[in-house]
Amino acid sequence: ALHAEAQRIAAEFEFTDTDVNSNVAEFIAQMKEGLEKNATTMSQIPTYVTAVPNGTEKGLYLAVDLGGTNFRVCSIDLKGESKFKLISSKVAIPKELMVAKTAKELFAFLAKQIELFLQEHHNDHFETHIRRRQTVSTPEGYRDEHIFNLGFTFSFPVHQIGINRGTLIRWTKGFDIPEAIGQDVCALLQKEIDLLRLPVKVAALVNDTVGTLMARSYTSPGKTGTLLGAIFGTGTNGAYVEKLSKITKPMEGDYDKTTGEMVVNTEWGSFDNGMKVLPNTIYDEQLDKDSVNPGIQMFEKRVSGMFLGEILRIILVSLLKSPTISLFGDDDSASNDWHSTSEIKKSSPLFTQWGVDSSILSDAELDNTEELGVLRQHISRVFGVISPSLEDAQAVKTIAHAIAKRSARLAAVALGAIVLETDRLAPVVSSHPGPKSTSDILDDVAKFKIADAASATANKLADTAGLTVNDDEIVDIGVDGSLVEHYPGFKDYIREGLRAIEGIGATGERKIRIGIAQDGSGVGAALIALVAAKMAKPTD
Ligand code: BG6
Ligand code: GLC
Repeated sequence: ALHAEAQRIAAEFEFTDTDVNSNVAEFIAQMKEGLEKNATTMSQIPTYVTAVPNGTEKGLYLAVDLGGTNFRVCSIDLKGESKFKLISSKVAIPKELMVAKTAKELFAFLAKQIELFLQEHHNDHFETHIRRRQTVSTPEGYRDEHIFNLGFTFSFPVHQIGINRGTLIRWTKGFDIPEAIGQDVCALLQKEIDLLRLPVKVAALVNDTVGTLMARSYTSPGKTGTLLGAIFGTGTNGAYVEKLSKITKPMEGDYDKTTGEMVVNTEWGSFDNGMKVLPNTIYDEQLDKDSVNPGIQMFEKRVSGMFLGEILRIILVSLLKSPTISLFGDDDSASNDWHSTSEIKKSSPLFTQWGVDSSILSDAELDNTEELGVLRQHISRVFGVISPSLEDAQAVKTIAHAIAKRSARLAAVALGAIVLETDRLAPVVSSHPGPKSTSDILDDVAKFKIADAASATANKLADTAGLTVNDDEIVDIGVDGSLVEHYPGFKDYIREGLRAIEGIGATGERKIRIGIAQDGSGVGAALIALVAAKMAKPTD
């Protein structure tokens, strides 16, 4: 009965080729709407980033990154000739700060981490300022000299009003500090930095997807530049290069119009909040109802890492409650006290909202042995089940697979829709900077570990079949985040989804290159801070 029930539930997560195509059509419609009007379901936020750096820049920059699993601080020493040295540290964001009463609590913590980082890694620089501090009484007094320009990667929807100004639209991914909504997050951070009298100026505000796009674009060995930066991690979102002429809604800040393009942060996590086309199950509904933001981020709640483990948990609890199904030794499930008779510890994270990390989905996918020994060990350790049977593990595997596959096919919807909306599969003459020298490219590839084995193999196979893709036909996409990095086969399912899209098909799919831009947002933020600092001082 357990086997049949697992199969039945898995079937509810099937997302057919027809579904993929209806979602792509709606995605394109909602993208367009967001370019024309404010307050739409997909925000399509103009970022004021209109160009990418060219590798010649020099100088020491700071970048901080809030919005994934960790808070990261890094310094990037740009040496010119596309070379740089990166030092970084990361700390898990304390859960209580994610739902703090005041914004100050969170931002003071961030400023403190910057101070600790400077003390540890740039002590000389830091000491100079401590000494200067004794003679200069205001932070402004030493603002211009030996100041670190900082790129602030803040991975939440922000209404950007300039390169280093933006007000928080809403929290996502479990953060919930209502007081911060509507406030300028750069000003909030700068205030705490100044209170600690750190020699740091928040020069640029960057979404993680924009940072990923920048970093990938800087390193991507292609003639056409990178189209899209996407995150599939705790949350999901994408930023892409759009024609200025298509962004017809009002924009407040100043920007350079000469490139004719601007990076747009889609905030696709909120695609189809109205649930016109997104797939839905009773488990999705329960997750949404119990979340801090019901009715919002409906796409993200079906795709990203924060939610996949929770969907699985909700399903497993429903199976445990079922009077006809026996799961985890729960052989007296007709009893009202259903978990007293089973082999699950009362303290099992299965009974706590968000208790199950999505990494269990990867573990389930990875174990292909007959006895599912590794998965069973994980179930025992992670779920607190005393001795899970083979049937238990098979059920978990079947369901976890179905949840993840639906997620990857939805991811294909977002990527495919953007490729189609920007008309990138038609031969285009790009306004991006020309190709770099091969040695630079090889350096970059090594540095960023972006070598994309999967697509290299695909291209090799295509070559053997006599179907070569020219360099100038490649549509380049940079991705980052724990899900795409660690879930086995996530990219393969995305590619399968892309092939199913009308207007892309097998021919178009081969032209799409998807490469990991690991930690890209740190480097990307530093690069934007640099461009912003240059804009602020045109004589440099
Ligand atoms: C990191 C990026 O590598 O990936 C972050 O530097 C991004 O900016 C993160 O937010 C997303 O992954 P996760 O899994 O931590 O949400
Ligand atoms: C959430 C945020 C978005 C971010 C994404 C990935 O969707 O709203 O800004 O880019 O997570 O971290």
